[in-house]
Amino acid sequence: MDDLTPLLNGNRAWAAAMTAEDPDFFQRLINQQSPDYFWIGCSDSRVPSTQLVGMLPGDMFVHRNVANVVVHSDLNFLSVLHYAVAVLKVRHVIVCGHHGCGGVHEALANTHVGLVDNWLRHVQDVRHKHAAIIDACESLDEQLHQLCTLNVIEQVVNVCQTTVMQQAWAQGQEIAVHGLIYDLADGLLQDLALQVTRPQDLVDQYARAIAQVADSRGS
Ligand code: CO
Repeated sequence: MDDLTPLLNGNRAWAAAMTAEDPDFFQRLINQQSPDYFWIGCSDSRVPSTQLVGMLPGDMFVHRNVANVVVHSDLNFLSVLHYAVAVLKVRHVIVCGHHGCGGVHEALANTHVGLVDNWLRHVQDVRHKHAAIIDACESLDEQLHQLCTLNVIEQVVNVCQTTVMQQAWAQGQEIAVHGLIYDLADGLLQDLALQVTRPQDLVDQYARAIAQVADSRGS
């Protein structure tokens, strides 16, 4: 069995390069972290959150799972969200999906992979909720493209509805929830123009984002 030599060598080279560029870099990070961003993304190895926005350690708090799903009873997620919002006081919560998502594809095709099928039921719920948009697509590729986007929008809503976000806004905390989607094909993020800065904006923002997806059919 191969050992971890490539990882450890890579780590030493990385740490040396970081120190060469900025001798105080690691020292500064020892005592505190104060990231402005909390990223909720897919576990996919091709979507490395901090790296794809050119940020450094210390810049972004991160939670990733298969298909970037926000589940109301997921204690793991809720704990990370609470820590990011209430303790670290991040200013932006970002739900980032990606096109070509394997988890969304499994949910769409209703394939049976194993345990993860249960997790992906949440994405199937999104598919059923937006059956009119998905069923109007002319190809599986188009359906996948649309469902990846719709999934981000629904997870943004789920974030906004958590007690953590509702309490933060009720207390006057300045914090925005955003929806982004990443394209594996060109490495670019698309802003879904879904930005919620206060709970009363959610319904309108959501309706506009869904309408935008419906209008983009075939484009
Ligand atoms: Co994915």
